[in-house]
Formats: sequence, structure tokens, C-alpha cells
Amino acid sequence: MSEETLSNLLHENRRFEPPAELAADANVKADAYEQARADRESFWAEQANRLDWAQTWDRVLDWDNPPFAKWFVGGRLNAAYNCVDRHVEAGRGDKVAFHFVGEPEGTDGKAEGRDITYAQLKDEVSKAANAIAALGVAAGDRVAIYMPMIPEAIVAMLACARLGAPHTVVFGGFSAEALSSRILDCGAKLVITADGGYRRGAASALKPAVDEAVAKVEAEQAGLVENVLVVRRTGQEVAFGDRDVWWHDAVDSASAEHEPEAFDSEHPLYVMYTSGTTGKPKGILHTTGGYLVGASYTHHAVFDLKPETDVYWCTADIGWVTGHSYIVYGPLANGVTQVLYEGTPDTPHKGRWWEIVQDKKVTLFYTAPTAIRTFMKWGREIPDKFDLSSLRLLGSVGEPINPEAYIWYRSVIGGDRTPVVDTWWQTETGMIMISPLPGVTASKPGSAMTPLPGVSADVVDLEGKPVGNGAGGYLVLTEPWPAMLRTLWGDDERFKETYWSRYAAQGFYFAGDGAKKDEDGDLWLLGRVDDVMNVSGHRLSTTEIESALVSHPRVAEAAVVGAADETTGQAVCAFVILREGGSGAEGDELVQELRGHVAKEIGAIAKPRQIMVVAELPKTRSGKIMRRLLRDVAENRQVGDVTTLADSTVMDLIAKGLSSGKAED
Ligand code: PRX
Repeated sequence: MSEETLSNLLHENRRFEPPAELAADANVKADAYEQARADRESFWAEQANRLDWAQTWDRVLDWDNPPFAKWFVGGRLNAAYNCVDRHVEAGRGDKVAFHFVGEPEGTDGKAEGRDITYAQLKDEVSKAANAIAALGVAAGDRVAIYMPMIPEAIVAMLACARLGAPHTVVFGGFSAEALSSRILDCGAKLVITADGGYRRGAASALKPAVDEAVAKVEAEQAGLVENVLVVRRTGQEVAFGDRDVWWHDAVDSASAEHEPEAFDSEHPLYVMYTSGTTGKPKGILHTTGGYLVGASYTHHAVFDLKPETDVYWCTADIGWVTGHSYIVYGPLANGVTQVLYEGTPDTPHKGRWWEIVQDKKVTLFYTAPTAIRTFMKWGREIPDKFDLSSLRLLGSVGEPINPEAYIWYRSVIGGDRTPVVDTWWQTETGMIMISPLPGVTASKPGSAMTPLPGVSADVVDLEGKPVGNGAGGYLVLTEPWPAMLRTLWGDDERFKETYWSRYAAQGFYFAGDGAKKDEDGDLWLLGRVDDVMNVSGHRLSTTEIESALVSHPRVAEAAVVGAADETTGQAVCAFVILREGGSGAEGDELVQELRGHVAKEIGAIAKPRQIMVVAELPKTRSGKIMRRLLRDVAENRQVGDVTTLADSTVMDLIAKGLSSGKAED
């Protein structure tokens, strides 16, 4: 077997055809692939007509100076106008934009919350734009947003977009340190925050972290942050200094009239920081026209969105790109009604999400595999208590979805009716790139299937040659796409180096993910390239072995890493969380059973050397398993930097469990 390719070991034969009714009335049909292939630029130009442009473009794509792309060159538009005002002007002002559901229970025992119509959203965004402008923010100035999942967070983003002031939203779970480094890197002069938000039944403060971050920024670059605009959400005591301004003072009294200015298609819309393998976070820059076209079209196509009748819920936080593209810009540009939920899935009870789906009659639901696996662990009795019959389509994003998790999602949540779209994309791509089309594709559990119309991806070997069907390699994007990142904020060199140097000769974008093509040429994502192991000369994907483990009835969640091994180069080490209430073998016997199970599912080569049963896995706040830390444990090293873990005590628990229990055979 060649060193350059990933071993293709896991086989999956299940297929789910699109439901006939959905297929007959699908927004996007099979001919779109052909149309886009015949003329990619006119295909995207046609999609750009979904938006309202103050001035149309002269040229669809300028790719004269790769990798620096310009889309819809010469076009002018306002993103906030496209997301809000135009729906009101078209007579849809009374349509609900958001069913906001707060975490605390209201006095009537029901969730606290309110509905916000498009007309109300327009007024709020206009007032906020006036208030922010009065604080001295003009087009081109950067604004940092550090907020809980409340409507004001979205209003703040849209107000910035309306003014042409790029926002950088920092996830509310990040530390003061992370916030200060992002404020400094992009040079934000305004920070928008809240006193706190509700998480797990308690008011959790945000303002103190902002105070600490601003103090750090002040020490580095005095005077950079001019104001901090603070929403009162929890009413908790907060320190209030000279630069602090209450949102209700500044925004509530501002005028609801605000003329949106049209900006150049390439005007910066936002910077979203994402972690690299090393060094400081990368500030991914998205611009206005191409990004909005990409987010709007893919939301329409992949979710088969019918804005008149659908109720859409994406459970991501606005602190991540998924919240940007598939809560704010795509869905609002498309004028749909959404659910916005402030809290966690298990507060006040583990059925909270399903209760919301039932109450709000959600039709389209988009979440992450980590959440699905958590619900699998809790058991189907919980969702089974609720009426989920309104759902007609389910989406998954963020990591490979194991076939068993896919099947569980489809059958338990989707009642075996709903297609599941496994959507592959990245902060960098800005929009979904590889996904089934729900009215066209016969989906395979665990596969993201094929690039969307207008998107070109391939799987190549180390030399950049496409691999054949049945083989694995590296995922590349072979043509520019409208929502692509334009650069890293302030660092064109790092942009070129990180994404474009590996396959410079071919001009491919290197996504950093391993992938394989199955016998039909459909794509399977195999995890980040640095999660790929090499066992006895076979390149094995952590994802495939994890999926094999999760397909065992006793396993709820699994993480696999490669650990140095004298004989095999690397050996497979697995960490598993068991499902609650299972019975059967325990201890060593269970470990042997699981090892045998992997051998049966994939082959002896993939049989884990070690399997450790643990109570929790180390995860980042966005739910990604931090395999780097597990590798440290597997290789008996001092555990590295844990500051980005959602719960930093997890590693202590794992280490303690290991020293007390015999896990190796
Ligand atoms: O490794 C891929 C994985 O998440 C990475 C991008 O992460 P981020 O920029 O945080 O964006 C997450 C939300 C788009 C990718 O390089 N990933 C994302 N979606 C999938 C996935 N891996 C497999 N299947 C997916 N559907």
C-alpha cells in the first residue's frame, strides 16, 4: 500500500434516497451541477441575483493575482440591508425573524423569550447603528463583540455590517486573554458585551472578563479601545468605568431611521479568529458580496429552505463561523423564521432542545455530531417524549459524523423520514462546500458526498495528483469560490503559506483534512491531517476507528490517537465513554471485546493497542476533541497546554483513572 494514500478500510453500504415529495419540490435539482460545471462564473452570477445590489458588478471573478480573489468586482451592496430592510420593504415586516428562547424559566413555568419580527429587527439594527456611529465608529473601524446568545448579539453584528465596520465576534466562553489578543490583533476600538448571560441555570458574568481584557489591551496599546457598550441581560452587579456605556442608554433612545450605505463588494465584513496548529490564532477575513452570495445560496440549496413555511434552528453559537453564516448572514438574507436559544441542552432538563423543536414547530435543524453523540449517551427515551414530527431535514457540521450517530440522528430525531445533510466546510471557506443536496442525493451515513454545484474539490496525493476511487489522500479545493477567505487579517504571507503553499504548483487550496473517495467517487472526510496515524506503514484515520468503536452497542463516544510504538511506528490508542445503563462484559473483558470489535469492523491493523474507559473526553469549547492532549496521555508525557479546554479538570480525571486502573493488555 502506498505511503501517500490513506487506507480505505471502513465499508458502509446503507443509502437513503431523498423523500419523493421533497425531491419533487426541491429548490435545487440535479441540473444545477451540470449548469455550474458548464460555466462556473455565470452560475455564481445567477446566484448573486438572490441579493439586492445598489450597483451590479462589472466582473464576476478577478483571479488575476492568486491566491487573492475578488468577487463581483465593482458591485456595491449593504449586508444589513440585504438581511433585514429588503424583507420589510417587500411587505414581510410582520414575519418573525427570531423566536428567542432564553435559558431561564419565566414566571409561567415556560421558557422566557420573545418573538422579534423583521420590522422590529430593522428598527433595532438601525438604532444600534446610530448609537455605534455616535460612539465614533465609522466604515472600516473594527468592533469586537463578546456576548451571550441573545438577540442583541445579532443586532450588534448587523449594526456593524450596516456601518461597514468589520466585526470580530469572540465566543463568550473564551478567556479575557483570548479576547484581548483578538482585540489587539484586529485593532478594535469598540467592544460590545453584556453584563452576563444565563448558562446552566445561573447568571454567568461576561463584563469582568472584558474589563480584564481591556486592561491588558491598554497596557499594550493605550487608547485603542475607546468604548465598551454593555447590554443589561442578567442584572448582576458590574463595575462601570469611564469608557463604559449602557446599551439601553445609547441604543434605546437612538433614532430608528438609518440610511444604509452601499459598500464595495470586497469591503471587509468580518474577521473570525480560528486556531492554527501552532502560534497565535489566525484572523480569517471575509468580505461582503461574495460571502453573502455563498452563505445565502448554500443555505437555500442545502436546507431546501422554504422561507414562507420553514422554521429553522441552528444550534451553533454566534461566536463560531457556523453562527455567522447559518444564523446571521445566510438565513437572514433568505428571510426565514429562526429559533435563537440562549442556553445549554440540559438546562433545566435534558429534553430542552426537543421541547423547543416541539413548541416552535422547527422544520430544519442544524447541529454538531458532538451534540448528537451526547444525546445518544443520554438515551432515546428523552427525545421520544416530544413531538418531533415537524422536522423535515436535519443537518450536521463541525466534524465527521460517525455512521452510527448519523443513523441515530435520522431515526430517533428524524423519525426515519428526514434526510440528513452532512455538511463539510471551514471558517476559511465561509460557506458549505461539500454536502448532499436533500432533493437529489442518495446519502450514505458518514459521507459528505459531493461538492455543491459551483464548488470544485478533489482528493489528491502528496504530489497533488488526484487519487482514484477507493483511495484516500488530502482534500483540496481546486477553484476559487465566492465566500472564500480573502486573507488572514494583517498577514498575507501566513495566508499564502498556510493554505496555498502545499500545492502551489497546482494552485489548490489545501484544507488540512484527510479524505477518501469511495468506489462511487463520493467523499468521506477523515479528520485533520495531523490526526492521521501511521501504523505499520498504513495510514489510518482516527475517524474510522472512532466510528467503529461507536458502532459497538456499549460505546457512546470514542477518541482515537496514535502513540509512538517501537514496532509499528504508531499504535492505535482509544479513549471511550460508555453508554449509560449498558450491561455485559466489564473491565478487561469489555476492553478485549471492543478491540475485537474494531478488528472485525475494520481489520486487525486497526485493532487498538490500548483502550481506556473514561468518563469525559477533553474538548474545546466548540466541542472538538483535543487529541493532542490524549496523545500526551497515551505517550506518558506531561499533559500540554489545557487553556482552551471547555473543562480543564477533565485531563486530571483521565490521568487519575489511568493510574488507578489497568487499561493495557
Ligand atoms: O476538519 C474539518 C472539520 O472541521 C474543520 C473546520 O473547522 P472550523 O473552521 O472550526 O469550522 C467548523 C464549522 C464549519 C474542517 O477542516 N469539519 C467540519 N465539518 C465537517 C468536518 N469534518 C468532517 N465532516 C464535516 N461535515
